[in-house]
Order: sequence, then structure tokens, then C-alpha cells
Amino acid sequence: MPALSDLSFRVDLSSGTIAGAPTMVRKLSDLAGSFADRRALDAALHKGDPTVYSVASVQPADDAGQLHYGLGRLMPGKIGDEYFLTKGHVHRRREAAEVYIGLKGRGLLLLENLETGAAAMLELSQQSVVYVPSATAHRTVNIGSEPLVYIGVYPADAGHDYETIAKENFHHVIVERNGAPALIARKKYLEELNRMREE
Ligand code: F6R
Ligand code: MN
Repeated sequence: MPALSDLSFRVDLSSGTIAGAPTMVRKLSDLAGSFADRRALDAALHKGDPTVYSVASVQPADDAGQLHYGLGRLMPGKIGDEYFLTKGHVHRRREAAEVYIGLKGRGLLLLENLETGAAAMLELSQQSVVYVPSATAHRTVNIGSEPLVYIGVYPADAGHDYETIAKENFHHVIVERNGAPALIARKKYLEELNRMREE
């Protein structure tokens, strides 16, 4: 654990960085398995491979009882009707919860409880805080026109399970419908896409 005097970090909301903290970047090509509309994704990748989001992480100590946090910065954009999103994960230690604090921009958190199958989209914007309970997969989406910036605070021993999500993806998508975000079952959305393309 660093000295007490070294535990304050300066957060830069416009660049999404934290002085002294490592930043991880995910590009559109890293999210190939995340978006529902493969054809729209291929068309977008043909034009380029932009950064979709970054996370600057502060991890002062790793033992149980400690906390880690990450500053996320998710760009605005869409693939087909689906808003730009994070890969999403469930915590490896299923009971580990998390608190998301919105700092800038307009976003939503997609939550899916792995045990009950319940799903919801919750506001994540400046002035909103979302509690992510145990055993709940979570993915951030940007529904605005500027970068969405937020902080997630989670137990140091939570761990990140991306494989469970990679296998089946989330069972819901957040897409734009009549100018507003809608939560739709992935299966139904894919059926709609196929039907539209057969016509
Ligand atoms: C940490 C957490 C967030 C995410 C960030 C990026 O537990 O939930 O800090 O890490 O929103 O999303 P992923 O990790 O899904 O790529
Ligand atoms: Mn998390």
C-alpha cells in the first residue's frame, strides 16, 4: 500500500486519464464479438478502427478488503442501431458488487443478473450513481453525442470474467428506436435484422 500522502489522484475528465495510472484502450476491432449487427460492424471497420473506450485504473493494493477503481471514457457512436459499448463482464468472484459514478456525458448501464436472467438499463450520467449487485453482468453504453466519462469502484479481489460474456454475449441489446434508447432481447433484434435484410 502506498503512503497515505500518495493516495490522491488527479482525474482529467476531457482525456479520461489519471496522472500516474495506466490506461487501457479498446478499439473497435477488439469489440468484434460484442456488437449484434456483424454487417454494420464490418462496414465500420472497413472505414477505420477508432478507439471506442479507455479505462485508467488505480489499484493501490490487491488484498481482500481493498478497493480498485477505474475511470472509463466511452466515445459516442453506433454500429447499426446499437450504441457504442464496453465489452462487459461479470466479476470472477460473483458476490463482488460495484458502484458506478457518472461524471460527464449521457450513458446507460446494461445489467443482467446471471442467476435470475433479469435485465435492466439504468441511467449513467453526470449526477447519477448506479449500484451493480452481485452476480450481475454489466456493460456501459454511450447514448449521447460527447464522450461518456464515469468511475467504477470495485473490490480489489473482484476479478474480471470476460469469457462468460464472450460465450453468449449479453442477452439484450440497447439500440436506438425512434430517436431513443430501447432495451431489446438480442434474439428478437437479430431476427428483425434478418427479416429486414431478406425483404
Ligand atoms: C470494473 C468495471 C469498469 C469496466 C470498464 C470497462 O470492474 O466494471 O471499470 O472495467 O467500464 O469495461 P470492460 O472491463 O467490460 O471492458
Ligand atoms: Mn465491473
